[in-house]
Amino acid sequence: MQLPRVAQWRGRLVAASLLLLIPVLTNGPAAAAALPYKDPSQPVSVRVEDLLSRMSLDEKIGQMTQAERKSVTNSDITDYRLGSLLSGGGSAPAPNTATAWADMYDSFQGAALATPLNIPLMYGIDAVHGHNNVYGATIFPHNIGLGAARDPGLVQRIGRATAEEVSGTGIDWDFAPCLCVVRNDRWGRTYESYGETPDIASSMATEITGLQGSKLSDSGSVMATAKHYIGDGGTTGGVDEGNTELSEADLRAIHLPPFREAVARHVGSVMVSYSSWNGLKMHANRYLITDVLKGELGFSGVVVSDWNAIDQIDGQVGFTAAEVSTSINAGLDMIMVPDAWKSFISMLKSEVQLGHVPMSRIDDANRRILTKKFELGLFERPYTDRSYTGTVGSAAHRLIAREAVKKSQVLLKNKWGILPLPKTASKIFVAGKNADDIGNQSGGWTIDWQGQSGNTTPGTTILQGIRSTVSSSTTVTYNRYGTGIDGSYKAAVAVVGETPYAEFKGDRPGSMSLDAEDLSTLATLKAAGVPVIVVTVSGRPLDIASELPSWDALVAAWLPGTEGAGVADVLFGDYNPTGKLPVTWMQSASQQPINTGDGKTPLFPYGAGDSFPSTQNPYDVIGAAYYDDQSGTGLEHCTDSGCGQDVGWIAANDYIGYYDVDFGTTSPTSVVTRIASNSSVSGSLQYHLDSPTGPLLATVSLSNTGGWQSWTSRTASVTGSATGVHKLYVVASGGGGADLANLNWFQFNH
Ligand code: GLC
Repeated sequence: MQLPRVAQWRGRLVAASLLLLIPVLTNGPAAAAALPYKDPSQPVSVRVEDLLSRMSLDEKIGQMTQAERKSVTNSDITDYRLGSLLSGGGSAPAPNTATAWADMYDSFQGAALATPLNIPLMYGIDAVHGHNNVYGATIFPHNIGLGAARDPGLVQRIGRATAEEVSGTGIDWDFAPCLCVVRNDRWGRTYESYGETPDIASSMATEITGLQGSKLSDSGSVMATAKHYIGDGGTTGGVDEGNTELSEADLRAIHLPPFREAVARHVGSVMVSYSSWNGLKMHANRYLITDVLKGELGFSGVVVSDWNAIDQIDGQVGFTAAEVSTSINAGLDMIMVPDAWKSFISMLKSEVQLGHVPMSRIDDANRRILTKKFELGLFERPYTDRSYTGTVGSAAHRLIAREAVKKSQVLLKNKWGILPLPKTASKIFVAGKNADDIGNQSGGWTIDWQGQSGNTTPGTTILQGIRSTVSSSTTVTYNRYGTGIDGSYKAAVAVVGETPYAEFKGDRPGSMSLDAEDLSTLATLKAAGVPVIVVTVSGRPLDIASELPSWDALVAAWLPGTEGAGVADVLFGDYNPTGKLPVTWMQSASQQPINTGDGKTPLFPYGAGDSFPSTQNPYDVIGAAYYDDQSGTGLEHCTDSGCGQDVGWIAANDYIGYYDVDFGTTSPTSVVTRIASNSSVSGSLQYHLDSPTGPLLATVSLSNTGGWQSWTSRTASVTGSATGVHKLYVVASGGGGADLANLNWFQFNH
């Protein structure tokens, strides 16, 4: 009589525990400890073989099963011998605190240890830019920003910081890094890629070393996952989970190198891609998984499926026994079956019993899984190392994140050197939906799978970063839509771009432009006639070519995460930008896919990125409209080449003031002044230091130039002396109160 399976197991459970009891009764505790697989002094391979020899088919199949935390009870874990659990994006205990995570992990682990052979479970999570499921965790820039930073050592430090926060919640397996090579920026996972070349992805595989340490059993280490194998970023049209149509040579050249590097760094697991290669689902591709990854590359870790990915092999909803055996025989070792894990277990068992899956394949998968569990030290230290729980969201980790934010900023335009903005500017206007929104600046995979707008987790918004950077005398005005802007502001910073998304929900088959709100905000700012500095917060390049000419500066901030102050570090010059584009920036969405070397002409090429000109003449106080202070003057449209605004209606005693003018160590000898005048009277402009009546530096004569927009440059000698940082005032005199001239710019020279 066939006992119901659970009763069968319970029977076996009793028998097994009796067996266990006998040695204990006759030889005492030493006998239990003498089991080779429980002896940490034994080589891992010996422990694996000993344990494997004691396992039933049910126990082996249980080890290959990964269920989602919400779909199991502790008794399920024990009864079905489940080898692994995961949290899907946003799947968290309540309350969502580090301690609650650790308590949850330990409870599940206790259930796993209650099985007859006491095999601990592995628990996986997508900590893809910090421990992003956990409220209060440090959220680092998404990979595309880290690719822009071009700093593999920093990425390794981020991996270590992430591993500490993950360890502090008990979890031992991180489904990161994504070593995807994004080839079409329409892809919803573009931001999960470090960039469009295999080199950049390979160079950032240092995250694996950060996560795993020098060995998996190191304190604070977790197992990393190179994903998604292979070609996820190369699908036609950038369709997520789509079809990568490439020759094998091109697939190997573009998408394989990062996995080769990951294997060289002893990555513990590899996750297979949903996508297909030339029409065959990767989860069914024995050649690429077993022959290439495991054979040619020598990968000895665990190959895990993606979420319900085996369902897609036959293109029908749900999975069949055939799909189970196809994926296992292709070389998958563990199947992520978040909910239907009972079906998976029974199907795999029957496929083995029918001879459709050889026992050798089951044993190979178990050897791989058990090897990692031994290497992680889970048999000796199965529970949370609470010494790391306090690292979640720590100041030290947030400092690393802020460093990553500032290094990831890419300066793409800086007309007139308007950046860096002076911290002592009198008035700065900030606008845009992404200026004061932690959720938007963090993007997808943040607290929630898709991420979400709003104050979703503790951090510093870009606006808060600006406020904390400028002087106490600076007025910072924020209005999301630009309402209230006027010509009295030194500049407007518009933080625009995308709202959060993840995976296929982020695919953009159509427009890649700014949304209507952003365009309206930018128009409002432009109408005020002040310089506009645009900061894009997005997971990909956007279609901005038509708007760019009206912007005075552009910084690509990507998805910076919780430490938005890193953006202000660049805007105000505390960090001279070093970021370089990790992806080609298109002229138009119609150019997608567009990648370096493909012969297309981009708006900004792969590798583009400026710094503040170190040779910038500190006297280049250009674009008079960029002044910090003024009296009696006004701004007007300027037709001089390269001119946005000029200062007009300058009459006797009117002045314009500039703060933070650094004259360097040697005083200038001359000054060139760009003026236009249709005045019937003459007068002069006088340059004074520190105040409108301070020491006189130079005097420039004013006279009719043929028209209020007939521009000419006038050179005058510097009669005074100036070194170091001063306020500089340009003061009009003479002319009996008449309008004397317009001013566009001036430049001091040696
Ligand atoms: C998702 C993603 C994968 C992630 C997994 C578990 O669908 O494709 O990157 O690791 O499911 O959340």
